Amino acid sequence: MSVASAHSHAVVLILDYGSQYTQLITRRVRELSMFSVLFPGDASLDRIKGVNPRVVILSGGPNSVHVEGSPRVPDGFFEYCAEKNVPVLGICYGMQMITHLLGGEVKPAVHGGEYGRMPMDIAPSSQLFDFLSSSTVNVWMSHGDEAVKLPAGFTAVAKSHQGAIVAIENPERRIYGFQFHPEVMHTEHGMEMIKHFLIGIAAVPADWNMGQVLEEQMAKIKAQVGPDDHVICALSGGVDSTVAATLVHKVLGDRLHCVFVDNGLLRYNEQQRVMDTFKNHLHLPVLCVDHSKVMLDRLRGVSDPEAKRKAIGAEFIEVFKNYATELEKTLGRKPKYLVQGTLYPDVIESCPPPGSGQKHSHTIKSHHNVGGLPKDLQFELVEPFRELFKDEVRAIGRLLGVPEQFIKRHPFPGPGLAVRVIGDVTEDGKLDTLREVDEIFVNTIREYGLYDEIWQAFAVFLPIKSVGVQGDQRSHAHVVALRAVTSGDGMTADWYSFTPAFLRDVSNRICNKVRSVNRVVYDITSKPPGTIEWE
Ligand code: XMP
Repeated sequence: MSVASAHSHAVVLILDYGSQYTQLITRRVRELSMFSVLFPGDASLDRIKGVNPRVVILSGGPNSVHVEGSPRVPDGFFEYCAEKNVPVLGICYGMQMITHLLGGEVKPAVHGGEYGRMPMDIAPSSQLFDFLSSSTVNVWMSHGDEAVKLPAGFTAVAKSHQGAIVAIENPERRIYGFQFHPEVMHTEHGMEMIKHFLIGIAAVPADWNMGQVLEEQMAKIKAQVGPDDHVICALSGGVDSTVAATLVHKVLGDRLHCVFVDNGLLRYNEQQRVMDTFKNHLHLPVLCVDHSKVMLDRLRGVSDPEAKRKAIGAEFIEVFKNYATELEKTLGRKPKYLVQGTLYPDVIESCPPPGSGQKHSHTIKSHHNVGGLPKDLQFELVEPFRELFKDEVRAIGRLLGVPEQFIKRHPFPGPGLAVRVIGDVTEDGKLDTLREVDEIFVNTIREYGLYDEIWQAFAVFLPIKSVGVQGDQRSHAHVVALRAVTSGDGMTADWYSFTPAFLRDVSNRICNKVRSVNRVVYDITSKPPGTIEWE
């Protein structure tokens, strides 16, 4: 995390002990207009002190405090918080750690634990719940251990209907704990509980807003890039790189140089559409390199999904290198910086699952990194969104005047339609068929007003032909699959439940307009076990 942000905003520090919900806590805090930072649970005390937190939240996690080697806060953590008057909130494992480390007792639950919805009764008076009028609330549990004896000075302020202590507080030391997960939507009043803790108890100022972040990032770019330096950016047509380039352009003007590569694997009219937005709406200086012929020649005969991805990645790097060399010739100097739309979820070091043998790892979607540029290109990076979540980048985009339609675009994979065609992409007019079908599908979704409800929608070309009847004649034509999913971050997804009327309509439109297709199927697989793309 940058030092600038640590100084200009109050920091809510979240220490990660491996719960699947930790990133959600981080986002919930941002939704309350506060700046949150996520560190691994065993971060050193110096690293914690370095961000000068206004409050610390200890996340949940799958470990047991009595197991040798289970993760915990560094030595001196509670003393530091006491000295600086920093409130601490433990959630689930975080609360058990507080109990265990401060002299209480945590044991495996006699009932075998609590999982899912559970009512809890709240004590008549407490700091944590004094904003609530109801005394019984349904909360979301996921724990096998329980606090059975509290450390000195702590009070149990809520009990589950199974009798477990599920909320604790020590107002004098400003240390608090929830055994349940206030961050998940199944917990009634969960968001209000977090808000009450952060504002009512910890008095954290709500000073995180995108207008200010935008100003800060602009100042940072100005400070980072020297007055004569040039900056290069590869645009994909997606939200992150577009907003990043627009921001950098606002600061550096024509010292920013962008390239958009048509790799021959783009959607229907995509090159014209994005180039129009770049030029006419955003006034970005973009060179469009049409590399489609070379790319498709290279892909001829390649049907293995991994080999396709590798070939596309290698070609992209070639184009990019050539662009940089040409630019160097024109400018008389090498561009020193590269703009990338890296987001916070890409840089967070999260706690790996126990037993995985990994140390804290960055969340890497390895097969998505084919477009990554090799280190030997030696650019310094300009990454204005390293601390931001996607929704925050969208908000910045709006402030910069990026058209709404563009901001809400569904994600599109770097290797393009190649990962939506099973087998060799160059055969049988597959790409053209897919473009037509995809365009009809997405347009129909827009017409029905469903585009923004769906996280990603597209068509897939299947490598089979089947018998059909078209115009009273037997046909032997292609099969396409449609896929539409809802998701938060693409890591998990569920298929979108269209009405039968929609499915009937879209299938008719496709079969009537695309003569090479006589069968349309809809994919009803969630992720996991499926992925979103088919390859
Ligand atoms: P999967 O198919 O792995 O996709 O469930 C998850 C999300 O990632 C997108 N995707 C990619 N994005 N480069 C990208 O920039 C890639 O190589 C890539 N492969 C998949 C996919 O569209 C979905 O949104």
